Amino acid sequence: MKKSIIQNCLMATLLSTATLLTGCSSNSSQDQTEEKINNLISQMTLQEKIGQMNQIVGGGDIDQLKEEVKKGHIGSILNEIDVKTINELQRIAVEENHLGIPLIIARDVIHGFKTVFPIPLAQAATWNADVVKAGARVAAEEATAVGVRWTFAPMLDISRDARWGRIIESLGEDPYLASKLGVAMVDGFQGESLSQPNSMAACAKHFCGYGASEGGRDYNSTQISEEQLRNFYLTPFKAVEEAGCATFMSAFNDLNGIPCTANQHLLKDILRKEWGFDGVVVSDWGSVHEMINHGLAANGAEAAEQAVNAGVDIDMMGFDYIKNLEASVKEGKVKESTIDEAVRYILRLKFRLGLFDNPYVKEGGEKTFYAPEYLQAAKEAAVKSCVLLKNSNNALPLSESVKSVAVIGPMADAPHDQLGAWTMDGDKEHTITPLRALREQYGDKIKINYVQALEFSRDRNTSNFAAAVNAARSSDVVLFFAGEESSLTGEAKCLADITLPGAQKELLAAVSKAGKPIVLIILAGRPVEIHKELPMADAFLYAWHPGTMGGPAIVDLLFGKETPSGKLSVSYPLTVGQLPYYYNHKNTGRPAHEKVQLMDDLQQNEVQTSLGMTCYYLDAGKDPLYPFGYGLSYTTFSYGDIQLSTDNIKEGQNIKASVIVKNTGTRKGMETVQLYIRDMFASLTRPVKELKGFQQFTLEPNETKTVEFTISTEELKFFNAANEFVAEPGEFSVFIGGNSRDVKESKFTLN
Ligand code: BGC
Repeated sequence: MKKSIIQNCLMATLLSTATLLTGCSSNSSQDQTEEKINNLISQMTLQEKIGQMNQIVGGGDIDQLKEEVKKGHIGSILNEIDVKTINELQRIAVEENHLGIPLIIARDVIHGFKTVFPIPLAQAATWNADVVKAGARVAAEEATAVGVRWTFAPMLDISRDARWGRIIESLGEDPYLASKLGVAMVDGFQGESLSQPNSMAACAKHFCGYGASEGGRDYNSTQISEEQLRNFYLTPFKAVEEAGCATFMSAFNDLNGIPCTANQHLLKDILRKEWGFDGVVVSDWGSVHEMINHGLAANGAEAAEQAVNAGVDIDMMGFDYIKNLEASVKEGKVKESTIDEAVRYILRLKFRLGLFDNPYVKEGGEKTFYAPEYLQAAKEAAVKSCVLLKNSNNALPLSESVKSVAVIGPMADAPHDQLGAWTMDGDKEHTITPLRALREQYGDKIKINYVQALEFSRDRNTSNFAAAVNAARSSDVVLFFAGEESSLTGEAKCLADITLPGAQKELLAAVSKAGKPIVLIILAGRPVEIHKELPMADAFLYAWHPGTMGGPAIVDLLFGKETPSGKLSVSYPLTVGQLPYYYNHKNTGRPAHEKVQLMDDLQQNEVQTSLGMTCYYLDAGKDPLYPFGYGLSYTTFSYGDIQLSTDNIKEGQNIKASVIVKNTGTRKGMETVQLYIRDMFASLTRPVKELKGFQQFTLEPNETKTVEFTISTEELKFFNAANEFVAEPGEFSVFIGGNSRDVKESKFTLN
């Protein structure tokens, strides 16, 4: 959108017709803003300029904070959400300092402010940009009601490793899906116009490659080739930059030897020069100072110099800019023009947010918290993000003849944990848990035998197991709510063992002895390793950490008021040893056979002869437990063969690929049809499949729909060894299906 305004204005200037020029009023107001910015900069002392580049946390010693604001030593504040304090700080900034520059108030509003939506990884499983956008809009409405005008989201780190705690914040492993949903999130946060008081600046983070942290260990080093960086990790960032995302955050990780916060290649060559980004770049919390630990800077002054010279405009909680940059400029280590440039970006953002016109927030905004329509949107997001992974003998939905259910497990009634990590403001008192929803909706019709058995996910106390088994025995069906506490997920919450924690596996085994059908519902922040326990479950519903309205969403799915439609946004690993795992990998010179046998199924000496020499694990095979894009419904869909509009195209032309999809089951259901391509031979090795489109729609039983995708040569392009974005002539495969594995295939040639 931003680009199109600029392009339109450029056109207008070129044509220089009076009509077009008057239609381009944004241009002249942009000029006026730039003039005001220059004016302000000309009145600022060096220390005041550096003050704008200093971001500090609220709370603490409020008098000192006020004093610093008055002196112009602080440009933005994070984590202050008290309306009166915010207004008072703004008043001091605009009235008691001669420059009158308002502050920006920032906060991590990641998947909701008060009304908590499912974690981003779950939202990505909706494959639905409208749902994601609505979630960000609700978050913005609630957060701006207390004066927060800048969120540190969306997190766009391509995530291939479930050990990494921050996988919860990501939009999954696929650059195309993350791009579409990342843009939706930015649109939701930023609203119609950034200057509206209910809009907040979005922040694309963590730039870049943080998801590739070695071993899935947080903050760890990353080694990412330019080819991987451009073809995978940068893709969603580029998409949101083009969509007008106002700010970027430099990542903690060291990328190919240079921490992102000092990485000129990333921040200057790519973000500023290639992409033309004119918004603000903020460091991550303390990441400027952490360059000392990385061993790149000997002290805070060097760290500040490296970061600012690389293009980091704001030092978040590092204090190195405010302490050192004045001297660095005087010593000639940092040019004053570099400081001016950073300040220009920051002031531009403040103008864009309309803060110079109105820095204050109206009191009483909390009345909108948890509004019924927000809760409804959160419930819809939770319904659509749950992924049905197993449903033997149609164990779900529960039949009307069910008269009693055993509700067992630590996650059935965990109001705090189901909110997920990065819930800073949502109150657990507003959470509706599955147990509560079940009691409210079915308490008078069905006998609910609840035995929590384990108090929390890591609990190892087995003393209530017998009661749980008895509850199972005296019920028609068991609803087993397993998973992870939210505190096992998120930043610095990485795990080497991603199986169900505590004694949950043992509890499930004990309960299964009762011989009743078991519906396993997992509430977690990552795909939990489950293949050993899965045979005990008749049905398996993945609910992630579903947020405030997770309970009613899950209950509606269990009882068939809603039909599952979520599809995995990451490959579901069979075992932790397969990680990192992603569907869009390269072929090797010795690709795996279609069907592989595991060593446990083979006799002595057979291992060598039967398995051949390929790239998979002898004990875990090549396949994940469930592939990327997978998810069942209560109905079934069939796919016809792919029809291509032609079998060869030239650069600049399009090809249409269509299939007939039919609802072959007995219930209405929503399907997400996925389009993948593969460049069979190219100047660089290419992924075995890459998502290039998806469409979502609902079909009645027996209804069919012809689904058509238009593939342009843009979709065939990739960054080659010379960093050119090109489509290379040759053969391409097209795949269409309901997940990345079960697909129809056809081929065409680009001449
Ligand atoms: C995280 C960021 C977050 C920042 C501010 C850091 O520790 O890495 O994602 O935005 O803190 O809270």
